[in-house]
Amino acid sequence: MADTQKKQLHVNLFEMNCVSHIIHGMWVHPDNNRHRFNDIEFWTELAQLVEYGTFDGIFLADVVGAYDQYRGGYGAALEESVQIPNNDPFLLIPAMAQVTKNLGFGATFSTTYEPPFSFARRISTLDHLTKGRVGWNIVTSYLPNAAENFGLSGEVPHDERYHIANEYVDVLYKLWEGSWEDDAVIQDRENRVYTDPSKVHYINHVGQHFKVKGPHLSQPSRQRTPVLFQATGSNAGKEFAGRHAEVVFTGGNDTRSVRANIADMRARATAYGRDPSHIKFISGAGIIVGRTSDEVSAKLDDYRRLISAEGRMAHSQSKIDYTAFPEHVTVAELITRQVSGYEHIPPRFRPEQTVGEILAQMRAVNYGRYFAVGTPEIVADEIEKWLDEDGIDGINLVQYLSFGTARDFIELVVPELRRRGRFRERYNDGETLRERLLGPGLARLPANHYGARFRDRANFQLPTEPLNIPGQTSGEQPLSMHEQRERAAANAGARA
Ligand SMILES: Cc1cc2nc3c(=O)[nH]c(=O)nc-3n(C[C@H](O)[C@H](O)[C@H](O)COP(=O)(O)O)c2cc1C
Repeated sequence: MADTQKKQLHVNLFEMNCVSHIIHGMWVHPDNNRHRFNDIEFWTELAQLVEYGTFDGIFLADVVGAYDQYRGGYGAALEESVQIPNNDPFLLIPAMAQVTKNLGFGATFSTTYEPPFSFARRISTLDHLTKGRVGWNIVTSYLPNAAENFGLSGEVPHDERYHIANEYVDVLYKLWEGSWEDDAVIQDRENRVYTDPSKVHYINHVGQHFKVKGPHLSQPSRQRTPVLFQATGSNAGKEFAGRHAEVVFTGGNDTRSVRANIADMRARATAYGRDPSHIKFISGAGIIVGRTSDEVSAKLDDYRRLISAEGRMAHSQSKIDYTAFPEHVTVAELITRQVSGYEHIPPRFRPEQTVGEILAQMRAVNYGRYFAVGTPEIVADEIEKWLDEDGIDGINLVQYLSFGTARDFIELVVPELRRRGRFRERYNDGETLRERLLGPGLARLPANHYGARFRDRANFQLPTEPLNIPGQTSGEQPLSMHEQRERAAANAGARA
């Protein structure tokens, strides 16, 4: 029975509309279904399974570029299917929503490349179609190839991307929260008036990066603003999260650093007048569970055989190919001999470490700090520690096999967590995704959330408050997207 005194676990299935998302090499496993990712049935079957397990949702990562740095190109990424081929995550949501009633859907979209107006309508459409079960993972994109796909000659500098994102969400809040009044749609058949024009408003946003007149095209949906997810570790990103994010992917090397990260972002939220408990913290977690320890070891051996170091290096855009060197060679020798890419050897690799040890690390099954292996009792013990000691609120369950990882968790771990009062027995039918996270009655952004200020149209004309990011060059305004494209085009012209 769920014990409300005890912290309840939030669980999303960590997904991506592609073959290999994070644990690379596993696509060849006979029990893996990833090759079916182009089939709508793959997603509807998965959604029904995950809803049966009463997960919070399915979280869909995304990138809009190829990993093309390892071995000087995208060859390894294609061979290993590292996030390419990939399809649009948003187009999966209506199909999955059609076959489920309560499951939430978080999907990733970048604030750096496509204009906000069309994205605003896409989200409102999905919030209508899912009856309020949508979330948005706000990213600013980190792939050089992504920038080149959208007319730029290189990535927008890190902190500048967050400045752009900051104005981007201002535009969205004005469209979602303020452009239409709650009772604008009247469907007055007698007087043949569908929407009362006096209750729909231009936003007239004129900012550094965006100029959007409005009005929003969609009528208000249940959440209006989707649940705002974000992953960050940088100061700029944390400042952005403190102002905007409702769910933050976080991590750390130990309990102390995880707790410090969480406290830091909650303090920033408080500084913005928000209720610090309105930010939830989730971490990616790898879980390998079996009914017996023999079953668990068999799975471990099975996975260890397949996990690919090449896939890992392609994903991390490694500029050094460790498979090109004999396994006994040490990092110190690679540096002394100045082998190709030696300057890109990450500092975490110790000088005495050998190539063999590095490759073994890359082929390891464990996924970061949140990794639990064992019988349901052992796994549930670990999860309780994550909740109580580290202070996280939930996990994104990383998949080794589709649908095996989700099925194992649902059949073996969920019953044990329920027995301990740590996981919901059932959904609160019809709740929105935000209510699942923040509690009944909170379908919309809480009144003390920064975005709620745009329910008052008087605030439409407020200039976007810059993020308080130290190190911003004094007085010099970051280039607008338009100026960056112009400069990129000019540079391209100069090079041609
Ligand atoms: C759990 C998790 C999921 C992420 N998903 C995506 C994603 O789907 N697409 C993307 O472009 N970046 C993704 N990122 C990268 C983040 O958006 C961000 O670039 C990264 O965390 C670094 O942020 P920072 O520069 O603010 O520290 C993810 C990061 C984490 C930790």
